[in-house]
Amino acid sequence: MSPQPQAAVGAPLSRVDGRLKVTGKATYAAEHDIDGVVHAVVVDSRIGRGRITGIDTRAALAQPGVLKVISHLNAPKLAYRGNPESYDPPGNKQLRVFQNDRVLFHGQPIAVVVATTLEVAQHAADLVKVRYDAEQSSTDMSSAPAVETVNYARGDADKALASAPVRLDATYQQARTHHNAMELHATIARWDGDKLTLWDKSQWPKGTQKDLAAVFGIPNDSVRVIAPFVGGAFGNSMRAWPHITISALAARETGRPVKLMLTRKQTYFGTGFRPSYEYRVRLGSDRRGRVTAMVQNLKAETSTYENFTEGVLHAGQMLYKAPHVRQDYRTVPLDVNTPVWMRGPGFATAAFAIESAMDELAHELGIDPIELRQRNEPEEDPSSQLPFSTRRLRECYTTGAREFGWHRRDPRPRSTRDGDWLIGTGIAVGTYDVLRTGAQARVRLNADGTALVEAATSDMGPGTYTSQTQIAADALGLAMRNVTFRLGDSTMPPTPPHGGSQTMINVGSAVQDGCDKLRKQAIKLAVEDEDSPLYGADGDAIVVRAGRLHLERNPARGESYRQLLARNNRTHLEVLGSWTPGEARHSMYTYGAIFAEVAVDARLGLVRVRRMLGVFDAGRIISPKLADSQALGGMVGGIGAALLEHTATDHRDGRIVNADLANYLVPVNADIPDLRGIYLDGGEDLEADPIGVKGLGEIVYIGVAPAIANAVFHATGRRVRELPITAEALL
Ligand code: MOS
Repeated sequence: MSPQPQAAVGAPLSRVDGRLKVTGKATYAAEHDIDGVVHAVVVDSRIGRGRITGIDTRAALAQPGVLKVISHLNAPKLAYRGNPESYDPPGNKQLRVFQNDRVLFHGQPIAVVVATTLEVAQHAADLVKVRYDAEQSSTDMSSAPAVETVNYARGDADKALASAPVRLDATYQQARTHHNAMELHATIARWDGDKLTLWDKSQWPKGTQKDLAAVFGIPNDSVRVIAPFVGGAFGNSMRAWPHITISALAARETGRPVKLMLTRKQTYFGTGFRPSYEYRVRLGSDRRGRVTAMVQNLKAETSTYENFTEGVLHAGQMLYKAPHVRQDYRTVPLDVNTPVWMRGPGFATAAFAIESAMDELAHELGIDPIELRQRNEPEEDPSSQLPFSTRRLRECYTTGAREFGWHRRDPRPRSTRDGDWLIGTGIAVGTYDVLRTGAQARVRLNADGTALVEAATSDMGPGTYTSQTQIAADALGLAMRNVTFRLGDSTMPPTPPHGGSQTMINVGSAVQDGCDKLRKQAIKLAVEDEDSPLYGADGDAIVVRAGRLHLERNPARGESYRQLLARNNRTHLEVLGSWTPGEARHSMYTYGAIFAEVAVDARLGLVRVRRMLGVFDAGRIISPKLADSQALGGMVGGIGAALLEHTATDHRDGRIVNADLANYLVPVNADIPDLRGIYLDGGEDLEADPIGVKGLGEIVYIGVAPAIANAVFHATGRRVRELPITAEALL
């Protein structure tokens, strides 16, 4: 088969939906114009734990325009049969909406007011009077008991640690953080008979479809989820939070389409968050910096009703070749909503602990931090003994060190000053899983020579519309403008969650497969058609360029898709593309090395990031301009995690005290310096998937926070083991 010429893939193209977005024509969940829509406002619990003893709705119901107030006192019993394919499998004790009088956390939805206008619904929600029997809530991880979840061991880490000539023992803390996407969570729900349509902010239309079908006990086909645009999500729209059920319930109980948008404040307790972690690392090493033993004990918060865990252990098992490793991972059930994945889930947490510890060890031994890492670079995955598909960390180090000017640094902490500012540089490594889950995509070539490609994925911002169009355009041999990629509808071919950097791997491979199949179908049609100039030609010698099929070596002999389809009386050709990953015979991860330079005000403790470089081994880059967009965004997010983000809870009643963007700090323009991403080229990983990509959205974030923490140590000589790093910690 002649390979298709690559024209769109690898070109620095702008977003195909860019104009829609900047002109306000991209329709987000709450913006769909649905006839007869009414408005719902959720009433949240004002206690952190206990029982509801009474709800007085008289004043609310007396407001003109109020249609209904629904709570556990009048809500129907819901099926909650569980969805085996999602995060709410049968038996999972997800939060049951309005099914009993229990309050499990501060802010739990306990009633909903539906009214003809938003203003009336908001006012009436304020008039709902709730009486409680409050109990003392427990939200402080440091003083609550932990439960065992996962353990891992290789070798005898405790023995190896005890006999190591150099030992390090450090505990790292990370604050609870919230995703804070720009778009607020919103759903419009409409029932047409027993069919439910949801216009929803979703990273996984198929998942939300099946979750809601399970909640209401109806067939999957009875639920349709539509999500053409998502204004950021970072993991928080991966599962169907209670407000989606509430909107559907309100629509069913009122017989009207219902729009429900959480307020910014409500997103802090109405949806998930990255749990806070305490992560103890003990390292044993010889004097030349070869790490022999690692013991890692970590604990994270979860809710009382679900045990949320994430992939936080992998990095500690495969980043360095330590022969003796022991890990235990415990969760602490608290009176909080259930946590969820947030950018770089698990791996970002592990990177802060492990990469800070490696930096501490480097300092202890007087070895350059890059050199120390090189000395511990494994030749195969020490956790699985599998060969790495691609692991180019050594190149990340050398390229990064050269481009950043790493070796110009004076390694002594607090050795470099610029007026009042202490200057430091730091490096940290990140790694993230290559999630191979499979996907499908439908490809249709129309008689006019345009193509439509569809998959039920989502685009929360990485540019899925654009990058999938690039793949399809090249595989079909069409110009970008003649290909339309559609997504965000559960009736489209199934895809995995749009998160965890798995969209390009899986959806991209399915799109490639579908477009390859379709192109071959067209070629077959031509070579078997006596009236085609390509009749009788070797199909393998034919390529398609700009919508025209021709012999690769003799471009004059050929014809266009349009001519071919018209002559054959075909309105279109259509195929279903798919990719199902085979068994993994390699260890597959993305890698990155982050280099940061910070300035710390010697008197005020203020940290400014001065510049940052990330060098990434993420496989083939489909869309360089969007890759840069991802990298810059990821690094900005990492700066937030390092220096600013912290969800603060009042442990007296479990209330989140900074549930707004005035008090929950995120980086603004003035916090962001020159950022640069480099993607190792020639990085195709064909063990990972047929298009050679490994995913990018996570790896650009992971490792940023420890790189900054390590730079802060180099600048000041102060090791801060807690995120975010605050001025107070440096005074
Ligand atoms: Mo994310 S946790 O990749 O949505």
